[in-house]
Amino acid sequence: MMIPKDLADTIVDPRAYQERSRSDEAFKRLRAEAPLAVAQPEGFDPFWVVTRFDDIQAVEKQNELFHNGDRSTVVTTIEADQKVRAMMGGSPHLVRSLVQMDNPDHFAYRRLTQAWFLPQNIRDLEGRIREIARGFVDRMAAHGERCDFARDVSFLYPLHVIMEILGVPEADEPRMLKLTQELFGSADPEVNRSGSASLDVDQGLAQLQATVMDFMTYFNAMTEDRRKNPRKDLASVIANGAIEGQPLGHLEAMSYYIIAATAGHDTTSNTTAGALWALCEHQDQFRKLKENPGLIPGHVEESIRWETPVKHFMRTATDDAELAGQKIAKGDWLMLCYPSGNRDEAHFTDPYRYDIERTPNKHVAFGYGAHVCLGQHLARMEMRILWEELLPRLESIELDGTPTRTAANFVCGPKSVPVRFKMH
Ligand code: HEM
Repeated sequence: MMIPKDLADTIVDPRAYQERSRSDEAFKRLRAEAPLAVAQPEGFDPFWVVTRFDDIQAVEKQNELFHNGDRSTVVTTIEADQKVRAMMGGSPHLVRSLVQMDNPDHFAYRRLTQAWFLPQNIRDLEGRIREIARGFVDRMAAHGERCDFARDVSFLYPLHVIMEILGVPEADEPRMLKLTQELFGSADPEVNRSGSASLDVDQGLAQLQATVMDFMTYFNAMTEDRRKNPRKDLASVIANGAIEGQPLGHLEAMSYYIIAATAGHDTTSNTTAGALWALCEHQDQFRKLKENPGLIPGHVEESIRWETPVKHFMRTATDDAELAGQKIAKGDWLMLCYPSGNRDEAHFTDPYRYDIERTPNKHVAFGYGAHVCLGQHLARMEMRILWEELLPRLESIELDGTPTRTAANFVCGPKSVPVRFKMH
C-alpha cells in the first residue's frame, strides 16, 4: 500500500515539524490508516514509513537485518544522494560516525567511548555539572523577570557541559553552537549558513559541506594537540584511541568529534526548552513538581518523550524480511518515526497529555538496540540537575509570547521560548 501523496510530502517537510501539529496529525492518520506503508514524496526514492512503537522497536532490535550505513541514515532526495555519492567516492554519507557504521566497525568504535558514558562514570561529573547548572540559573535570574529560555539558557547549558567533557575551550563554544545549528537547521533560513529559505540541491550541499569542513579543520588541530599533550578529556580518547592496534581513520575520528559536539547538546537543549514550554502550558504539573521534587526524574523522562528531538533515522534491509505482516525486500529503506512511536495510542495512555507521573514511560526518543543513544544517561542527568537547581528558585513562570520551533525533519525543537517569571 502506498501512503497518500499529501501525507508522504508532509513527513519529509521541515516545516511540518516546525509547526508540529502538522507532523503530529500526519502520524496520527498513518498509525490509524497505514501504520507500515511505503511513501514516495516528490524527488525521493520510495521508503517504508514505520510509525508504530512496536514496529520501530522491532526494526531497531535487528541490527544485522536492518543496517544503518548501507544507504543514507537520514531521508534524502535522489538528487542529493547522487551528489553526495559523487563527492564521497560512492559513499552515501558526508561523515562516518557511529550512526553510519554497522558491525564489526560499529562495535569497535563504540567500545572506545562507551565506558565514558556509563552511569557509574558520569556520576563523577555530577558535582561539576551542578556548578554549571547553578551558573545558568543565576544568569537566568540576572535577566530580571523576562528571558528567552531557549536562547538564554537551554541552548547554552548542555553546550557548555559537552564542550567541557570534550575539551573545547569556552571561548569556542559560540562557534560550536553556530556550526551545530547550521548542520541540523540547514532548512531553516533563521539558522542555516546562507540565511536563505530556497536553496537548490547544490547550494544546500555546498553549505553542509562547508560546515562539516569547518568542524574538521577545528578538530584536526585538536587531534594534533591531544596527541602531543594528552589530557583527561574525550578529545584525548578520540585522538589517541586505537582500533585493533591502529589509530582511528581520519574521517572516522573527525566524525566522532562532530557527533559528540552536535548530538551531545542540541538534542538536550531542545528537550529542556520543550520541557519548560510544557510546564508553562501545564501549570498544574509545574506546581506538582515544585511541591514534590521527587517527581523531577518523571518530568525529565516525560519531556524527552514529549519533545522527541530526533525525528527519524533510516535503516536499510540487508535481506528479505517480514515486519508487521508486510514483506520488506532486501535493499528497502525504512524511516523510523520516533515522534510517532512516542504518541502511539497502543503504547501510551492519553499520549497527547503532558504527565510527569506517567508510569511506565518507556519511549523510543533515544532509539533502541545497538545504536541506542550513547549519551542518554548524561542527557538525563544534565536535565535532572538543571531542574533540581532551577525549580526551588522559580516562584512562577508563564509564556511571554509565542514560542517557535526550528524547521527541520531530522533534529529539531524550540528555537525561542519567551517567558516571564519570578525568581529568588
Ligand atoms: C544516537 C537521541 C543526547 C550522543 C542517538 C539516537 C537517538 C538519540 C534517537 C539514535 C539511536 C538509534 O539509532 O537507535 C538523543 C536524545 C538526546 C540525546 C533524545 C537528549 C535528550 C545525546 C547526548 C550525547 C549523544 C548528550 C552525548 C555525546 C549520541 C551518539 C549516538 C546517539 C554518539 C550514536 C550512537 C550509535 O549509533 O551507536 N541519540 N540523544 N546523544 N547519540 Fe543521542
